[in-house]
Amino acid sequence: MRIVVLNGVNLDVVGRRDPDVYGGITISELETQIYEWASELDCTVRCRQTNSEGEFVDWCHDALDWADGVILNPGAWSHYSWAIHDAVELFAVPVVEVHLSDVNAREKWRRFSVLEGLVTARVIGKGPEGYREALELLLAKSS
Ligand code: DQA
Repeated sequence: MRIVVLNGVNLDVVGRRDPDVYGGITISELETQIYEWASELDCTVRCRQTNSEGEFVDWCHDALDWADGVILNPGAWSHYSWAIHDAVELFAVPVVEVHLSDVNAREKWRRFSVLEGLVTARVIGKGPEGYREALELLLAKSS
């Protein structure tokens, strides 16, 4: 199974963001961890991160012909980007939305996601482990 993991805006500096909220893990540690889980779980993963909304949309389009499953953490775009909503709407494969932090326990504006109704599952507030859970959910779907 081929899974694309797209991390969005400000996740490149997640290691410098509030450690009480994000745990202090860097994006490269997170991606290394995801690649390790993928090899344990016997699937192929491609991790990408960008601060450009257009690039994030382009990568969704690229994944249309490549991925059998999609893991998305669009960061703050999750809460307002209808462009990302429209790109994600194109996927015929399962999509899991992941947030490191518990967006429901933070500011009110973080409770809404443009991906609502489009995703197979949401994994929220589980830190890096949430990506492992997302991989497992996608693999369970494909079997
Ligand atoms: C986040 C939650 C978003 O509200 C926030 O804007 C982020 C990170 C998370 O992983 O917890 O940048 O997506």
